[in-house]
Amino acid sequence: MSSQIINPTEHGALGLEQIKMGARRIQVDDKKIINCRADLNQLFPLKYDWAWQKYLAACANHWMPQEINMSADLATWKDPNGLTPDERMILKRALGFFSTADSLVANNLVLAIYRHITNPECRQYLLRQAFEEALHTHSYTYIIESLGLDESELFNMYREIPSIHDKAAWSLQFTQDLAQDGFHTGTPENDQRFLRDLIAFYVIFEGLFFYVGFVQVLSFGRRNKMTGTAEQIQYILRDESMHLNFGIDLINQIKIENPHLWTASFKSEITQMIQQAVHLEMQYAHDTMPRGVLGLNANMFEEYMHCIANRRCAQIGLAELFPGAKNPFPWMSEVIDLKKEKNFFETRVTEYQTGGALSWGGEEDDEKL
Ligand SMILES: [Fe+2]
Ligand SMILES: [Fe+2]
Repeated sequence: MSSQIINPTEHGALGLEQIKMGARRIQVDDKKIINCRADLNQLFPLKYDWAWQKYLAACANHWMPQEINMSADLATWKDPNGLTPDERMILKRALGFFSTADSLVANNLVLAIYRHITNPECRQYLLRQAFEEALHTHSYTYIIESLGLDESELFNMYREIPSIHDKAAWSLQFTQDLAQDGFHTGTPENDQRFLRDLIAFYVIFEGLFFYVGFVQVLSFGRRNKMTGTAEQIQYILRDESMHLNFGIDLINQIKIENPHLWTASFKSEITQMIQQAVHLEMQYAHDTMPRGVLGLNANMFEEYMHCIANRRCAQIGLAELFPGAKNPFPWMSEVIDLKKEKNFFETRVTEYQTGGALSWGGEEDDEKL
């Protein structure tokens, strides 16, 4: 093993360093999100309370997919008149996209992000998030099994349906970039590469690419169809909203600690990434909804994507891309805010012994869009 890995001198600590007997004790001010050389194994004293609070809130929101009853969904799916062909396609494509999407996020966390975050409280949240991504994949698998769908058809959609492939492939390039041998943060160029990956996954993949699928599946629940599937998505959406909020805090804290990274050309590049993402998500919307269905159509999603893109830009300090866009699905805010709408789908409310139940952990002023 090279001594550079054990005792990094040019970039941040990894957690692989030798334990130094008698070394100076850690002070709060020693901590930094990236390129920090202080011991990574000491969670306390906390510097970033928001990361620890989100870890606690995520644990309080614990849920398991198999706790949700799927028998009504199976009856609807089996009934030849239960759903129209367009409704079946929309559901299958949403499940097809999501069934591999959370693996892409988990792999990015574990293979690209975790290694370069040099702060224990943020790593603590990342470990919880990684478990939640596994739970989400578990949930999609459980839905697929419960409905008796062709798992091979769904899990292969990201290699067979162009609009699903394009979103997956677009995001994977950022994981690949950081997973290259020898990549480490510590230069402005590489720190920007790291920041670019965080924005690609937290702001765009989890903050934008999930939302057409979420609205589609939740629209079934609003019409009292496929309520078990919709309830699974409600829990996933609650988790994803927390991931997004953590990512925004992380990105903004890195900007505060490294203002030299947020250059005009970098901002312009990020803006272009968001524009490109809106385009990819619209292709997906058209691909899954060639005709209007469930009171939805692809054009409504264009307005919704513009609205979400504006929020994401504002959250990381960029100018809005589509001024004046309005949310055509105001009910989404109600679904996301489960404190107000506990029985949104009128299904049985699952009570969790862990106390996780149906309130949203996290700060009140966190973004809910
Ligand atoms: Fe997820
Ligand atoms: Fe996530």
